Amino acid sequence: MDFLSPWNSDLNFDYYIRMHEKLIGREWFIEDLSYLVLKTDYRGVLFAAEMGFGKSAIVSNIAYAGDKRLPGYPLYSKLVSIHVCRFDSHITLKPGMFVKNMAAGIAQKFPEYGNIIHLDRMAHDYLFTEKCFEDPQGCFDFGILSPLQKMQGIPDKLIVLMDALDECIEYWHANKFTLLYEKIPRLPKFIKILCTSRNISQIREKLPPGIILYDNPYIKEKSTEDIKQYIEFR
Ligand SMILES: Nc1ncnc2c1ncn2[C@@H]1O[C@H](COP(=O)(O)OP(=O)(O)O)[C@@H](O)[C@H]1O
Ligand SMILES: [Mg+2]
Repeated sequence: MDFLSPWNSDLNFDYYIRMHEKLIGREWFIEDLSYLVLKTDYRGVLFAAEMGFGKSAIVSNIAYAGDKRLPGYPLYSKLVSIHVCRFDSHITLKPGMFVKNMAAGIAQKFPEYGNIIHLDRMAHDYLFTEKCFEDPQGCFDFGILSPLQKMQGIPDKLIVLMDALDECIEYWHANKFTLLYEKIPRLPKFIKILCTSRNISQIREKLPPGIILYDNPYIKEKSTEDIKQYIEFR
């Protein structure tokens, strides 16, 4: 059976992602992220910074960096899914939504994975029903980990982007982010996680294995340069 019609996730974050204006500066930052995500063996990177730093603006920039000349292009070209946690939008906080989104993104880019899901009763059962919300852990196992294991083609890197992890924390508190702690290490190495969060200790000090915290000793100086650029631009 050919996977002819890739399915879309029930939720798409375009509206939130598009609400940002053109990004000023921050090229250095996007280049650092590209290096960490695409050229190292870390499973992913968490960028933690205060509210208003421009984390979501950077995510938006990467999501629309379709032009090869843009600094965000290397990340954009490997992006399979974007999840945005919004404390004011209940459904974005559901771990099952994150799982479905990720599966839909991989299926869109890799028809082989889509075919496997369609032929696998368990994967199908979880991803296309309420089960994924009832049991997001199982949904991740049967809808993502198991089908990925069955794939014969090994894609180059695939990036899963999550913005504002801190806004999900209240909701995900019950399972203490087990979804991320337990499942990320079991993903194949070609899947990379890039996430942003407010700089809060709850998240910073309990990163999933293999995820590093972005750090750059020159962040203050570089940010000051960006602000100068911003003022000149306006
Ligand atoms: N470098 C930048 N260039 C242009 N606009 C920016 C930049 N950084 C932040 N902004 C704008 O400032 C506001 C706050 O940024 P946002 O990305 O929402 O911050 P955060 O997600 O870190 O809380 C948004 O309207 C965003 O579009
Ligand atoms: Mg934000």
